Amino acid sequence: MNILALIQKRYTAKKYNAHKVVPQEKIEELKEILRLTPSSINIQPWKFTFVQNPEIKAKLASVSMHNTEKINQAQLLVVFSVADDLDAFENEVVNEFPQFRKEMYHKMKTYKSEADLKIWLSQQVYIALGVGLTASMAMGLDSTAMEGIETDKYKTILNMTVYKPLFAMAVGYGCEEDSNRIEVTPKSRRLLENVVETI
Ligand SMILES: Cc1cc2nc3c(=O)[nH]c(=O)nc-3n(C[C@H](O)[C@H](O)[C@H](O)COP(=O)(O)O)c2cc1C
Repeated sequence: MNILALIQKRYTAKKYNAHKVVPQEKIEELKEILRLTPSSINIQPWKFTFVQNPEIKAKLASVSMHNTEKINQAQLLVVFSVADDLDAFENEVVNEFPQFRKEMYHKMKTYKSEADLKIWLSQQVYIALGVGLTASMAMGLDSTAMEGIETDKYKTILNMTVYKPLFAMAVGYGCEEDSNRIEVTPKSRRLLENVVETI
């Protein structure tokens, strides 16, 4: 299937088939795909937490606003987090990155206030969401991007210190009865001429 046809078919799953098992190879592939996400100056300020454990997933589901049922039904929940303790993240940069990249990051820190630096880091994590949604579809899986989660409670449940959850993505096989399926609810988008300019 070509990429346009794929994107035309992708939809936000609102209901999942809890019984149709997602092959573990696909989940492992998704981990590697997210790891390969591009980011500004290749800073990679993220943590992707793959939650398959049903008890932990249920705990997270219970603090996920209108998304509780989807998370309970979906086989996989991926939590996307951003570096929040910047001193601790600095250690990761120092230990893991080549010299020129460390210097680029240090330069970036001199240009931006701490608040702006945190916004910039978070923006990088959203790129991974786009990659994850498209990749899931390409692998024959359905998914739901979810900002509707209680991120502070996620942080506590996941015992995070350096990173802070921003949003999550449920992944699984969609349910036939989901009224949000593309066959039932066609794509709704602004007109091409209103969002694309060609000069
Ligand atoms: C960053 C982001 C956060 C979203 N949060 C939620 C959410 O918490 N719950 C939900 O059901 N859908 C959520 N959505 C899905 C959007 O509502 C959906 O993508 C949009 O209406 C377009 O519909 P489509 O994805 O079916 O094409 C989110 C989407 C994005 C990109």
